[in-house]
Parts: sequence; C-alpha cells; structure tokens
Amino acid sequence: NIPTLQWRPVYHFTPDKNWTNDPNGLLYLNGEYHLYNQQNPFENFWGHMSWGHAVSTDLIHWKHLPIAIPEKIKDSDTTWIFSGSAVWDKNNTSGFCKNGGCVVAIYTAHSPNRRNESQYIAYSNDGGKTFVNYEKNPVVDLNRLDFRDPNVFWYEPGKFWLMTVVVPDMHKAQFYSSPNLKDWTLLSEFGPQGYTGANWECPFLIQLPVEGTNVKKWVLGISAAGGERGVFEQYFVGDFDGKEFKNDNAADKVLPLDYGDTYYAAIPWNNVPGDKKIYIGWMIPNTQPTWPWRGQMSIPRDLSLKQTPEGYRLIQKPSSVITKSLDKLSDNVVSVANLELNNEEINPDKAGKIKGNAYWLDAELNVKPNAVAGFRIAQQKDEGGKVINETVISYNSSTRQLTVDRTNAGGKLNEHALKRTIDIEGNSNAVKLTILLDKSSLEVFVNDGEAALTTYIYPGEHADNITAFAAGGSAEIKNIKIRDLSNRGK
Ligand code: FRU
Repeated sequence: NIPTLQWRPVYHFTPDKNWTNDPNGLLYLNGEYHLYNQQNPFENFWGHMSWGHAVSTDLIHWKHLPIAIPEKIKDSDTTWIFSGSAVWDKNNTSGFCKNGGCVVAIYTAHSPNRRNESQYIAYSNDGGKTFVNYEKNPVVDLNRLDFRDPNVFWYEPGKFWLMTVVVPDMHKAQFYSSPNLKDWTLLSEFGPQGYTGANWECPFLIQLPVEGTNVKKWVLGISAAGGERGVFEQYFVGDFDGKEFKNDNAADKVLPLDYGDTYYAAIPWNNVPGDKKIYIGWMIPNTQPTWPWRGQMSIPRDLSLKQTPEGYRLIQKPSSVITKSLDKLSDNVVSVANLELNNEEINPDKAGKIKGNAYWLDAELNVKPNAVAGFRIAQQKDEGGKVINETVISYNSSTRQLTVDRTNAGGKLNEHALKRTIDIEGNSNAVKLTILLDKSSLEVFVNDGEAALTTYIYPGEHADNITAFAAGGSAEIKNIKIRDLSNRGK
C-alpha cells in the first residue's frame, strides 16, 4: 500500500482511514451537521459494514468521531449495519428519549449467514455518538434477502413518521407510516418505473419548492448501479398524498440526477433549520487504488425544482451553507473579466497563484456558433508542448453540449466513461460553469445547477495548470473566478 496523498481531497469528506460507501443518517442537530457513513472500520475495501460518524458546522471541516453503530458479532454470526437514516424524535414518540428528544437511527440489518435484510432501529441519548439497539428488532421484515435502505422523516401533514425503503431486485419502493418508529404500516408501493437496468437502492423522498413560485412537488430519488448505465441515480418528480407517490411523467421516462460515472446513494439531511433541503452523495471509487482511504462524499448540494417546458426538473447547487463562507475559505483568488479568445489557449492565472488542484472555479462564457470553448484543468505538458495530463471541460454552442473529457486525465478510470456529454437546456451561446476540483474529485455544475457531473481524475503530481481556450472560432469569457481552497481558510 503506497500512500496516495496527492489525491486526497481537502474540502470534501473522506474517512480518516479505510473504506467508505453511502452517506447514512444525515441529521442536523444543535448547530452541527451529522454525517454517518457506511464504513469498514478495519480495511480499505468493503466489509464489516458499520456506521462511521463525523460532524461539521460548515459542511467543509469534518470532525471524525468514533464508530457510532458497529457491526454486531454474536457467537459465530454477524450482522452488518447497512444504510439508513436518522431522525430527531423531539416529542419522544418512540419512548426511548431520556431528556427531551433523542436521535433514532433506522437502518438495514444485513445478515449474510441468515440471508436476510430487515429494518432495525437504535436510539441515542448522547446526541448521536452512541446507540442502543431496540430489543424487539426487526421493526419491518419481509423475510427476504434483498430489502433495504430505509429513509425516514416526519411527515407533518399526516403527523406520522414516513419510511421509504426498496425491494431492490423487484425495482420497487415501499412507503410505510408509523406513530412511534417501532410499528410500521405499509401505505403503498411505487415501481417498477424509470430505469430498471440494475437493482434499486438507497431511496429518498423529499418535498421541494419550485423556484420562483409557491408550488411544491415531491421528488423520489433511487440509486441503481451495475446495469448498462453503470453507476446511476435517477429521480422521479410528482405528488405524494400521504399514501401514494404519483409520477408526473410517463413510467418509462428516466431523469438522471447526475451525468458522471460515480455519483450514488445520495440522501438529504433531516431537521435542517428553515426546512432547507441539502443532500450529499457517495462518489464510488474508480479502479484507481487510493490509500489510506477509499471513497468519499460529494460536495453537499442544495435542492430545488425548476419549471421547464418538459415539466419540473431538479436543480442542485453547491450548498449555500458553503458558498456563503467561500471567501473566508479561500487564500488566493484569481479574477479575470472580459477575456476574448480566438482559437487560442491562455492561462488566466498569470501570476501562478493557484497551485495544487484544490479550487473552486466559477465562470460565464459566451461561445460563438461553431466554436468550442472552456477549460483545460489539471494539465501538464512536456517541454515540447505535448499534453501529459489534462481534463477538458468544454461547451459547444452549436450542439449545446457540455463535455467532460478525461481521456488524458491520469489514473485508472472507468474506460467506458472517459468522455461524458450533457445536453444543455435552452437555446443560448451563454453557459455558466462551476468547477470544483479537489485533488482527485471533480464536480461540474452547469447553469446554476441545471445539471451536475461528478467524477474522479488522478493527475500526476505536477499536473495542476489551468487554461481557458476557444477552438474552431471565438468565445468571450465574461468572467472567471478561481478560489484556492488548499488550506480551507485554516
Ligand atoms: C449501496 C448499498 C446499499 C447498502 C449498502 C451496504 O451502495 O449497496 O444498498 O445498504 O450499500 O454497504
């Protein structure tokens, strides 16, 4: 195991050490965002699944805490603590709370030996640090191997807890209600619909505002990895009436949450002040080994909806919890305005202030028809000018396509996903980009969150150049702002 610290993100969540997968039990409590995660406490690969734990006040600096819910070994049997959620039971509906409210975790107990997955609950009277398993678990059991990932929140209109959970191989989500988190009643089922090319996992249901209106709609997110789409997460938009979810779109309509090859198992935070809707996804590691950690989370993202001619569509932007303190987090800032590019490639950071591939780049471009323009990042050329590493993020205003090309990005990447293209809504030469590069983690947000593409790159140690370019014609870069987050304001 060779340390690969040059690829370790600085402003994204990674485990202290070892393997992580899904975010679990996202809960805001007393000024802190709790993030539990699928964690192998011992090794740098999937196994011994337990709930790791970290807290943050700003969604950038994470404090790692001891394992919150460990794998349970009894005699020769083991129970793994699979994905799930956590709620703040402020009115002690569960009867578990000692001093006012308590944290209740609802998770899937996975028993490899008994070939069973069922839903368990556990409670915490120390603010979510340690949990006691309910003695009458399971609380929902279908006597199946595949049945998992309960996502629970308080459904105020019906005054009950609402659980969304999946039967993965049947491509079905189920909705249950409960007055006390212990006794659950099946309300309805949804699916198969949308993408069914792989097992359904990690559902979430959330009510979101439609920007600029008083309308609210429901969104059901579902992850599914391993089919022809590779790593994939989709969403359905529609209505939930306290019993059933009704899809606005035709049953075969597939809406991607993200256009990259790694975004997965995303779920929202419960209990955020002002009913703010923030979610975070797991970034499934590539075949590139990293050590001493493996896997990470995306940047936390604010969710809303936008009305389009085709219907309501999801908007996701890096959370305003982060963007409001972005200036404090950045040491060096490079700002350039009104740059005309004509078949050329230039370095917008003339003084060479931004080093080391941990930055946040915002830009507005106007790309003339037939031209392709954008950025080449994490770039290194040899003395002869030949590219050693680069990742090309470009917009073609004739086809209205945004492309992220990782052909020369570096590292072992998913071969089928080296080049990904997003069709951009509307009819404009203008495009807005937000590019978050954090060592090996790359997220591209287009037009204020209309589309997101999440992926990995593994550039060589000296591949940290940033250039702006226009090819096949001209482009105006109205502005670029690059904030160096290498020190996260420390
Ligand atoms: C998704 C998933 C979940 C499961 C967990 C186990 O990545 O397969 O369905 O609960 O990971 O680690």
